[in-house]
Amino acid sequence: MNIKDKIDRAKLPQHIAIIMDGNGRWAKGLGKLRVFGHKNGVSAVREVLEGAIEIGVPYLTLYAFSSENWNRPKLEVRALMELLISSLTKELKTFQQNGVKLKAIGNLNDLPDNIQKTLNDTMEATKENSKCTLTLALSYGSRTEILDATKRIADQVAQGTLKPEDITEDLFSQYLYTADIPDPDLMIRTSGEQRISNFLLWQLAYTELWFSAKMWPEFTRNDLFEAIFDYQSRERRFGKTSEQL
Ligand code: FPP
Repeated sequence: MNIKDKIDRAKLPQHIAIIMDGNGRWAKGLGKLRVFGHKNGVSAVREVLEGAIEIGVPYLTLYAFSSENWNRPKLEVRALMELLISSLTKELKTFQQNGVKLKAIGNLNDLPDNIQKTLNDTMEATKENSKCTLTLALSYGSRTEILDATKRIADQVAQGTLKPEDITEDLFSQYLYTADIPDPDLMIRTSGEQRISNFLLWQLAYTELWFSAKMWPEFTRNDLFEAIFDYQSRERRFGKTSEQL
């Protein structure tokens, strides 16, 4: 029996978040430039998106560019931005055919104008799609996201439109970039690194973590299915005991 057939379709994670790591090391291992890794990383994005649609996962969030990634060499940053534009332009048809709604989270105003335009056009064109919401975290940093939310809430308290005692976890979540997305059930990171790297710190509070030794360009839909299968073997207690579940 292949791994996909072992997955219980009634217990799928509703939201999978992925830290796509290892493009540079994979390319270097082959004696190529880092950009070669990113190009092949795009193929892995397509593969995993197709896998998520095939099995029926409604939310997929990809850490595509962190706020810290701006510090990389200019040439690499430019190559990543160009890859993003060309991928979005090329994939629009696939998004429409497969019911993919595109979303973007992060400090989007920091992105070059042409990226913002392509993103906005693609989000607008796919906003009615409902099979899978693909969220790209771009120029994203979770601490900044949390601070932004806190400042907006503090403003409302200062203006008297919100009382401190009304600030609940649910209310706070509504001020994050992910307001209309459920918290991830499963977070995958490739390349053998085992850290969160300023990704969805609030939202990952009860998320199951799965680490793969594979570099991102090597990651296939079967690896995604393996992660989902492993996730299904876990008991999520949310702080309770087994007996209380
Ligand atoms: C991490 O590998 C990967 C990134 C910083 C960028 C991910 C981008 C893509 C896969 C391409 C564009 C994305 C989309 C959604 C079309 P790394 O460079 O940090 O690898 P390293 O740790 O080996 O250096």
